[in-house]
This record gives sequence, structure tokens and C-alpha cells, in this order.
Amino acid sequence: MRYSEVVELVELIASVPTYTVVGVSCGKLLYLSNAAGGLNLWSIDLVSGGRERLTDEVIHSVAKPSKTSSITIYTSDVSAGRELQKVFYVDVVAREKGLLAYMEPVRIIGIAYDGETVAFSGVSKNDASIYLIRGGSLEKVFTFSKGRAFVTDVSKNTVVGFGTLLDDPRSYELFILNLGTGDFKVYTPRSGAINKNPVIKDGRVLFETNYLGKNRLAILDLDVGELSTLDFTYLDYVKYDPVEHLMYDWLEDGRVWVVGKKNGRTEMFVDGKALGLPSGYVNGACVHEGKAYLSMSNLRSPWRILEADLATGSLRVLIDNDLPEEISGRLGDAEFTKYKSFDDLEVPAYIVESRIATKPGPTVVYVHGGPWWEVPDMWSPFIAGLAASGFHVIAPNFRGSTGYGEEFRSLDIGDPGGGDLEDVVYAACYAKAVGLADRVAITGYSYGGFMTFLATVKKPNAWVCGVAGAGITDWELMRELSDAYFKHFIDMLFAGKRELFKDRSAVNFAENLKVPLGIIHPQNDSRTPLLPILNYLTKLWELGKIFEVHILPGIGHALLRREDVAKVLLYTIDFLRRHICS
Ligand code: 4NP
Repeated sequence: MRYSEVVELVELIASVPTYTVVGVSCGKLLYLSNAAGGLNLWSIDLVSGGRERLTDEVIHSVAKPSKTSSITIYTSDVSAGRELQKVFYVDVVAREKGLLAYMEPVRIIGIAYDGETVAFSGVSKNDASIYLIRGGSLEKVFTFSKGRAFVTDVSKNTVVGFGTLLDDPRSYELFILNLGTGDFKVYTPRSGAINKNPVIKDGRVLFETNYLGKNRLAILDLDVGELSTLDFTYLDYVKYDPVEHLMYDWLEDGRVWVVGKKNGRTEMFVDGKALGLPSGYVNGACVHEGKAYLSMSNLRSPWRILEADLATGSLRVLIDNDLPEEISGRLGDAEFTKYKSFDDLEVPAYIVESRIATKPGPTVVYVHGGPWWEVPDMWSPFIAGLAASGFHVIAPNFRGSTGYGEEFRSLDIGDPGGGDLEDVVYAACYAKAVGLADRVAITGYSYGGFMTFLATVKKPNAWVCGVAGAGITDWELMRELSDAYFKHFIDMLFAGKRELFKDRSAVNFAENLKVPLGIIHPQNDSRTPLLPILNYLTKLWELGKIFEVHILPGIGHALLRREDVAKVLLYTIDFLRRHICS
């Protein structure tokens, strides 16, 4: 492929629109899409099918629409990517929009709206608090002692959410704030359990919990203080036996719908009955007047919006997404597999082959971010872009990834860049052993960038080159530069073992780098700041190492515009082509 062909391919991949269902407001299905360049809120009229873009600004997050209001609440970055946001509204009927209240911008990590009150958790340099906006004015109503707590719902006088509230890095607790009395309660059915994403209706809190072993849904009745497990009328949910629950909510009549997840794929259930969705991953869903609406994709086909009729079981495509032949014709099979790591732990992974590469051929280990995230069977412009430009891709869900149970998820706590790094190296060995790879490069963004930096200095013989996006090279300095949320995040991830910072920071091992290293970093990144990367570059330069740097001006960590995705992809593919093939 010539350079100009790579540029064209990257343009095509970055132009594939994303869709995420948000909910229904006043007969319109609301969804997020980058169809106009940046991530905006859009609507599709459920009667006429007419589509409309509702916002001009790039959106960071949206509160679930309220059943009683035509107003939808969203947050948008006002700091050129530093992730300081303000709260905005759009009235989908009157078509008015604007700033909801005068406020200092903060990092907003959870927001909810009940038609009257907006509640959100906001983090500044030193402080993590719950804020309310009522009648156009802002009020700080509660301050957490630590920074990782997410507001997930508000109803009349109650705000609910969850976080690591007891300083146990392996557990999540619920919180319940009574706005009438000011009473703030931390709740867990069992200490050490995971309790997440509470949603509230008529004093009943629905949440995901593993207090009995597996992750399941439970209900806490706030009036009587009673906990009960949730039983469904239909048995499909029990047969499916999900590992995690991506999203769920109450139906009008008090029954429940849920999207369950297993091995990186999802199924949606309404009162326990499966919709029978195509294979892939749902990233947004809602139920409205006998129909379910959902956005889904898989590794080979991009996001679509589907409508499922709950009475007849029929599925209809509301918004389709045709992949150009130049991309689809180059993507090979996507396969779910498991391989054994150094300690015999089974590591799940997705493999996407390239139809234009030989086998064995040039292969990339794609390392996901998070680290409490995963590569599911979901459209990824990075994985698709790599495969379409001639690299087989193996994406390991290394220890610490979500989707494979709490025990697996917590295996990286107190050991980031330890066992998980071994898993990534073993992914490269596996790709060679099964005849996929003859040479292997490593790339990833954010935590995946961190792993790329560390892998190229600690395991220098495993790779022919690496490309680190928005990575981490120095935990000590990064912690100093972080706000209250990320300070707490780092403390939880390392389980307080700061003595490990040195050993897990590539800056202390720069002399071991043997292969060309590509570095891509947003200038205004406030999650993985640029300064430690600049220090690392100085060191690499002093040592005479081969590296290439692209600092992306004017943007932050989240790649919310198509052109940002295109830049990261182009720099990555161009670097890999030059260094993996030489
Ligand atoms: P992510 O970013 O991979 O995009 O979620 C991260 C930012 C900070 C940390 C890890 C990941 N951290 O450990 O502080």
C-alpha cells in the first residue's frame, strides 16, 4: 500500500459513524453520533423517521432523559480537552438550548436528571463532590473524602450512585443521599462485594451486586431497608447466565430490562426474555411503549440502531451503517479465543485477521485502555484500521480486564504492569505459536500506551516496534499532576503500594529500549499528562534511541472528533508499516 492509500483508508475508517442510544424524549429517540464530525446529540422521530442534530458542541456525557420533561441534560468540555465540563440543556420540543447554570467547570464523572433536579459528581484538583442544579442555580451538597464516586440516578429527594467508598480497592459500595434530611449512607450487602450502577424508581433501588457470588441484579427498598434478589418471569436470562450487566432499568410497570454480557458479547432481556440479537455488543439501549431500541456493532460491522418489537419479537434496522468494500473486503474473521499465560491463567482474546496479509504475517498486539475495560466483539476503528491496512490483530483481555468476573478483574490490583504485562507478552507468543504471526508489534492507547512503553523496555525482545498513544511513563510524576479522581484511581490500582511506582515506570528503564518507538500524545491530556512523556523523550534522545513523536495540539485524552481518531490511526499505521516491514 502506498502512503496515499493509507491516508485514504484512514479517512474511510474514521468516517464510519458511531451510534449510541441514549433514550426516548417526547416521541424522539435520542442518540449520540459523530456523523457530523464531533460527538453530538441527535434525534430520530419515531413516527416520521426524520433525523436531526440537536447540539453543535462536542458532547462528553448525557444524562438519561426524564419521562416527564422535554429537556435533555448533557455535559461538554470547555477546556480544550482538559476534561473540565459544564452542564448544558437542550429542549427537544422548543429546540432551545444553552448553559443550565453558572458554574466553575469540573471533571463530571456521573450525571442524572429526574425532570426537576440535575445531580452530578464533579471532581476538581482537590475535591470530589455531589452538586445539584435546581431552578437554574448550582449547589454543592456533599463532599466525598476520596475522588471515585459516580452519581448514577436522582429521583425526587434521593440521589444514588456508587464508588470505592470504603477504601477497599476490590469493592464498590452504593451511596444514598437523602436531599430532604441531608442523610448520606454508604451501603453494601456484604463487605468486599461489588455494588454498581444503582437506578431508582419509587423508593426502590435496582443495582448490580456480587454479594451472593456471581454478579446479579438486586433491589434495595429504601422505605423498609429490605434487600431482595431479582427474579424474572422468563428463563432466558438464567440460561444465558451473564457475567456482567452493562445497563438495565425499570419498566413503567416495575418489571426490569437488562443487557447482559459474556465473553465480550451481549444479549438484551426484558423481564428475563431474550431479544435474540445478532452477535456483537450493545452500547446503549432503552425500552419505550412496547419496543426496545438499541445500538450495537461487532468487530467486523460498525454501529447500527435496531428496534425490537417486544410483542412479536421482530427486529428492524432504524439506522444502518454500510461499511465501504475497501474496508470490509480486507477484514478477515474475528475469532474469540483463550490462551495460557505464564502461570497457566487462561487469558481471553479477540483475533481479527487481515485478508491482505500473509499467514503467518505481520501482527499487532492491541492493548486496551482502562485497565478495567476490555476488547469486546465491538466495532473499533483502531482494530479495523490495523487489519484493513495489512496487520493481523490480537487483542488480549489481560488479567484485570472487565467481562470475565470480579476475581479476574481484580487480578491487576496491586500489580499493574506486572502479571498483565506478562499476559500481553504471552499474546505475542500465542500469535506465533498458532501460525498467525511471523513478527509482532505492540500498540495501545492510555493504559494500553502505558503497557506499550513498559513492554518495549522490560520485554524488549518480544517486539519489532511499538506505538504508545496517550501512555504513562512515570507513575510518581503522573500522580502529582493528577486531580482528586485520578489520584484515588492510582492509589486503588496500586493498592497503595507506592514503592512499585519506580519499577512500573518506563522512564527508569529507557536504556533497555531496542526497537523503534512511536509516541502519540494529546497536548492537553489531563488523565495521562504530557509532562512525563516529554521527560521520557529527553531521556530517549540523550540515549540516542530511535523514536518518532506526534503531539496532538488543542485536544485532550478522549478522542471525541473523527479527525482526532484519524490522526492517531494514521500516525500508528504509518509508523508500523515503516518499522514492522523493514
Ligand atoms: P484510560 O486512562 O486507559 O483511558 O482509562 C487511564 C488514565 C489513568 C490511569 C489509567 C488509565 N491511571 O491508572 O491513573
